[in-house]
Amino acid sequence: MLLRIGRPSLRICGINSAIPFLFIVTILVLFFIMHGATTLDPEATASSSHFKYTTVKGYFLQSEDNTDSSKFDFKKQNFGLIEREYEDHHGQRHEGISQWQRFESYVRHLNEKSEDGVRFKVLLLGRHGQGWHNVAETKYGTEAWDCYWSMLDGADGITWSDANLTGIGKGQAQDVNDLWKALLPKGIPAPETYYVSPLTRTIETADVTFKGLRLPDHKPYKPIIKELLREAIGVHTCDRRSTATYIRESFPHVELEENFSEEDRLWSADYREPSSARKYRLSKLLDDVFAHDNGAFLSLTSHSGAIASVLEAVGHRSFDLETGGVIPAFVKAERVHGERERPPHEPSEGPPACKLNPAGLPD
Ligand SMILES: *[C@@H]1O[C@H](CO)[C@@H](O)[C@H](O)[C@H]1NC(C)=O
Ligand SMILES: *[C@@H]1O[C@H](CO)[C@@H](O)[C@H](O)[C@H]1NC(C)=O
Repeated sequence: MLLRIGRPSLRICGINSAIPFLFIVTILVLFFIMHGATTLDPEATASSSHFKYTTVKGYFLQSEDNTDSSKFDFKKQNFGLIEREYEDHHGQRHEGISQWQRFESYVRHLNEKSEDGVRFKVLLLGRHGQGWHNVAETKYGTEAWDCYWSMLDGADGITWSDANLTGIGKGQAQDVNDLWKALLPKGIPAPETYYVSPLTRTIETADVTFKGLRLPDHKPYKPIIKELLREAIGVHTCDRRSTATYIRESFPHVELEENFSEEDRLWSADYREPSSARKYRLSKLLDDVFAHDNGAFLSLTSHSGAIASVLEAVGHRSFDLETGGVIPAFVKAERVHGERERPPHEPSEGPPACKLNPAGLPD
């Protein structure tokens, strides 16, 4: 900024004014150091900017408009990576290098040559495997679940508050573990960071998915719990998290992010986060990750609603995920000055009133 102010005056006044010019620059610098200390503070800079996100299309089948999400199986399609040519930026032929290695080198090249404030990341978004709340919703029906059962901690021998995975759910995560086992030798880049929602079902899913893999020594599986990566907040007890102490004791290998509170301060029994607020929350999570994580391949283990919000926030088409499903999103982020705009406060998105005697309600 100082240089941009300085250059024209040098050109106008000629070389003789270089000394007064340097004097003025010195005064200006001193002024900024004394009065504007906060503008030099990286934390302050980070909080007064955010990112604009776009999805880079043409690399994963899931981002293409003609892919049918109801029939798509990422496990049979190499996570969706499209077989394609890559620009040969080093003037070399990539013989014997796999699609994943070419893609990784392309993403790293994009980050090296991109201008300041622009970065590219591949977000591997995983939905948890089947939990007991999913079983209960199927058992009672979505209507009765939303208007009644979801507000209890459990019933009929099933507990669904901060639900555990079922056996089927663990099997779904194991299938993804098998996929990683098959693809790591084929050059798929291991995630550089593992972000996980604080709910039990996502921590269990990440553990089954990534434990026991032959990961590179410098990229071990070390999950980091992120409060903002959780599912839609409020009303449903399955989306109320356990205490920090419970999480630490049940999963001693996880790291809780800085300032992770002991109690769940976000959940309330009578207000369910509307989708506008959820999209804002997940956008804030992405702003945090894109500002502080230098990795290009990141794993995020989360939930259907939260992942739908991430996809919306990065301009990706909507894509329904089964429990245990994974979708990679190739994202470009450009730093924008100023705070992210907060959406207006909206009324609770539920619970709906129960209709008289709907099926699935107790007599
Ligand atoms: C959930 O799993 C944990 C750890 O395996 C176990 O201690 C707990 O009893 C389970 N909760 C329910 C309700 O089954
Ligand atoms: C944690 O909380 C402290 C005190 O409120 C604050 O100064 C700090 O910036 C917070 N750290 C993060 C990463 O939010």
